[in-house]
Amino acid sequence: MNQQQLLKASVNGLKHFTNVNDVENIQSLIDTALTFKQNPNHSKIGSGKRLGLIFLNPSLRTRLSTQIAAENLGMQPIIFNVGSEGWQWEFAEGAIMNGTTIEHIKDAAPILGNYFDVLAIRTFPGLKNREEDYAEMIFNQFVKYVNKPVVSLESATVHPLQSLADCITLHELTKNETKKIKVVLTWAPHIKPIPQCVANSFSQWMNAWNMETSKFDFVITHPKYYELDEQFTKGATITQNQNEALENADFLYVKNWSRYHNYGTFDTGKQKWMLTKSKLAAHTKVMHCLPVRRNIELSDEILDSNHSLVTHQAANRVWSAQAVLHEILK
Ligand code: CP
Repeated sequence: MNQQQLLKASVNGLKHFTNVNDVENIQSLIDTALTFKQNPNHSKIGSGKRLGLIFLNPSLRTRLSTQIAAENLGMQPIIFNVGSEGWQWEFAEGAIMNGTTIEHIKDAAPILGNYFDVLAIRTFPGLKNREEDYAEMIFNQFVKYVNKPVVSLESATVHPLQSLADCITLHELTKNETKKIKVVLTWAPHIKPIPQCVANSFSQWMNAWNMETSKFDFVITHPKYYELDEQFTKGATITQNQNEALENADFLYVKNWSRYHNYGTFDTGKQKWMLTKSKLAAHTKVMHCLPVRRNIELSDEILDSNHSLVTHQAANRVWSAQAVLHEILK
């Protein structure tokens, strides 16, 4: 198939992109992304359309890669940093707005829906109220009132554009392998409580992709009390023995997360969970979504070596976003 035929044949045709469940066929979406990696300007399907990129929280990679992806498709991206520049939004139904919030999402979102053809939003969890975070209250209120296709730039529980880029990276490096590939998600220390989003999302995508391909042996390792929500991890092998998990690993995905049970708490004193070079085999590749706390989560000696895939992953964020926007516009 030529590139045009490949893009037409991709089966996904997305309405929204909020998590892996919106994707009919992960491998097809990866193939679409790699078509764009070969030829970034292949399709101008977004010509004459506007993408609103709404940030309630900071970003480097997500913001810039999605902007580049939109421009590659001929789309005009406009970035709005609500968190630092906009009115503070209220999301609760029936709120009496006598506090710090200035504008209700019910009033703001329809205006955004009027200005833009596709909306993308980043919002982090509060890590205080698990029910509220895991119900994706803020993200879902946005989807409800904006009335246009919505792309997640990371929400309270997942980071699907990152996970797609991670799958693209794994696919590029394993497509000619015939043996089972061992991929390990390993918890790392941190100095403050961090959301579970990236770990949830990577687990969810690996398990779903493995249902399609049966190509991976996917293992999660973390200290006691750092269990993730089973809805994301189901299908993986889970162990609290990091040494055992790391044995014969081909790829290690390093990430900190705070507790799901006893929600949002964390503790210090787990430095032995930091990934160092002595824990790696010669062929092991190491992944991290970035930003990374050097010499807390991952050592310099790994990040500055050929073991590290972090720049490769971040570069693939463009093709991840471009594939998703293409399928939405299609
Ligand atoms: N990995 C990632 O999402 O990076 P940013 O927070 O910089 O967008």
